[in-house]
Amino acid sequence: MTGQTDQTGQTDQTSQISQTPDRPTLADATRGRILFGGDYNPEQWPEETWQEDVRLMKEAGVNSVTLGVFSWAKLEPKPGAREFGWLDRLMDLMHANGIGVVLATPTSSPPPWMGRLHPDTLPRDEDGRTEWWGGRQHFSHSSATYRRYAAAITEDLAARYGSHPALRMWHINNEYCTYDWGDEAAVTFRRWLQDKYGTLDALNTAWGTAFWSQGYGDWEEILPPRHAHYMKNPTQVLDFKRYTSDMLLECYVAERDIVRRHSPHLPVTSNFMPMWVGQDAWKWVREEDVVSVDVYPDPRDPFGAQNGALIQDMTRSQARGPWMLMEQAAGPVNWRGVNHPKPHGLNRLWSLQAVARGADAVCYFQWRQSRQGAEKFHSGMVSHAGEHGRTYREIKQLGAELACIGAEVTDSHSTSDIAILHEWNAWWAGAQDGRLSHEVDYPQVVRAWHRALWEAHLTADFAHPEHDLAAYKLVVVPQLYLLTDAAIDNILAYVRAGGTLVCGFLTGVADEDDRVRAGGMDERLRELFGIRTLHEWWPLDADETAECDGFRGTLWSEEIEVEDSVAGVVAEAVYKGGELDGLPAVLRKGRAWYVSTLPEPAALSDLLAGVASGAGVGRVLDGLPAQVEAVRRGDVLFVLNHGREKVTVEVPGAYRDLISGEQVADSVELERYGVAVLSP
Ligand code: GLA
Repeated sequence: MTGQTDQTGQTDQTSQISQTPDRPTLADATRGRILFGGDYNPEQWPEETWQEDVRLMKEAGVNSVTLGVFSWAKLEPKPGAREFGWLDRLMDLMHANGIGVVLATPTSSPPPWMGRLHPDTLPRDEDGRTEWWGGRQHFSHSSATYRRYAAAITEDLAARYGSHPALRMWHINNEYCTYDWGDEAAVTFRRWLQDKYGTLDALNTAWGTAFWSQGYGDWEEILPPRHAHYMKNPTQVLDFKRYTSDMLLECYVAERDIVRRHSPHLPVTSNFMPMWVGQDAWKWVREEDVVSVDVYPDPRDPFGAQNGALIQDMTRSQARGPWMLMEQAAGPVNWRGVNHPKPHGLNRLWSLQAVARGADAVCYFQWRQSRQGAEKFHSGMVSHAGEHGRTYREIKQLGAELACIGAEVTDSHSTSDIAILHEWNAWWAGAQDGRLSHEVDYPQVVRAWHRALWEAHLTADFAHPEHDLAAYKLVVVPQLYLLTDAAIDNILAYVRAGGTLVCGFLTGVADEDDRVRAGGMDERLRELFGIRTLHEWWPLDADETAECDGFRGTLWSEEIEVEDSVAGVVAEAVYKGGELDGLPAVLRKGRAWYVSTLPEPAALSDLLAGVASGAGVGRVLDGLPAQVEAVRRGDVLFVLNHGREKVTVEVPGAYRDLISGEQVADSVELERYGVAVLSP
């Protein structure tokens, strides 16, 4: 534990996620401008195209490119060979044209020779099938051979380019996301477990191996949770997820330490996938100088803007300051069933939304749309239509606008009065086989609660349940099936100190070994909410709802008996009809609320808006139309119209619109997808 303890014995978890002190930050790369650019894969193009790329980049205000992400085979065409000439020319070309470089280690896609010569570098899935080369990310995090080659190419890249004047930041690997159930992984899994448990007795106790005759008598008997006849041991699966995240983190740290040695003055990052299940991001961000993420909401999704906002809120909270939008799509992606382009203005709107929520970098996958390979139908900043295409024209406009606002917004940070608690161990443990309802999907539940706040025009931070919550007026817990004792103590201390809490169903059910707590829910939490007995969980079918006072519940309901001898326990809403008739659906004891179902969207939004207002949480602007979002970043007010209709928005006071340069007093008109960036 790296957190510090204050006089109250409370752990200061803030220090647990703050990045290493005295390390360079994103500000060292942005230098007062918003980074604008994207993944640049010039190895796919003849060198004549590079010249045209540079011309178009400069015209569009591109000031940053990410090089090298998938260039391993080009850099090391044979084991140990080095082909740096092309990259030398590119680094120099970028520098000569004033474009900064985020240089990636190429280690997420090993060259074919590696798999052929060293099959031990290839991961196996849970059925024992090899993941062959021919795609990407076919590396085993546990392979000593892979790690040796990865370290060697990283060392040579860092030695060669670590002081290059174009270099602004290091980018390690790309979207770490691989699992491995193979033999070498079995060895590292055992080692990880030995470090965690020390003895087999401790492991057997934690995993509950008395059930189904699973007791282990020798470490060699333990395997990654491979294909099995029936449901697997849930704690074994949970530990495997923790282990996988840690193994990938080890790979990252090994490369990070190499590049840091050669360029101590430059920040290091690795891009997250949005709310990706495989990496415990709270743990990862402690090792990063810059937190970066890839955000790809579906342009057709009516909640695309909210889904983007959720990831942006989460990333801002993980970064505790400005963060980097490493990738987004200028137009369609090509990995959905049907891939829609972005209508005119949407790319600009979602990019400025990211800036409003703390991004100091607006970057894309990728600069120029490929003509070959698996992603040739994925958009680029320069689409197949080229410089006269709408995509590039809009990119050019955005580049100019970001240049107008950069100086006023970069390096500023805003926090919210509301925190949403989210945690990976709870996600992992709650998603196991053998649970009562497969309709309950953790990310969907988190999205539903975030959406409820979004629709109430309330912006929230995300926090780990063991973080210091004192700064928040309202804490909401969509669902934390697993909670450590430390997390429970932290939540109780927050309420005791005057905080307001709204907690969703299936929270506090299991301890950190995924052992169900006595009574089905931790007794301290039951006492907090005034629950005497949690008799049964009553999950709902996909098309089923539970009638409650004034709303319908979805997904879940609970048979709860209230502690009626305790004064102040209020059933704010009860179930109506059916088996649970008259029992509490929404319960409150003082400032602690418990919601035993998932209210339909409007009802959850009303509930949270009411509780927020009671807790003294204000809105950035009052009276906003439904599709309009207002976000304050530092002193700058962003007003974003996510609707297709023109709107007039009241903005009391006088401002200068940083994009149009015009003075604004008391109200602003926004076209479809329009944005005003207002400086007081
Ligand atoms: C991810 C990857 C990119 C690319 C995009 C496509 O974000 O990092 O290399 O595959 O997806 O959307």
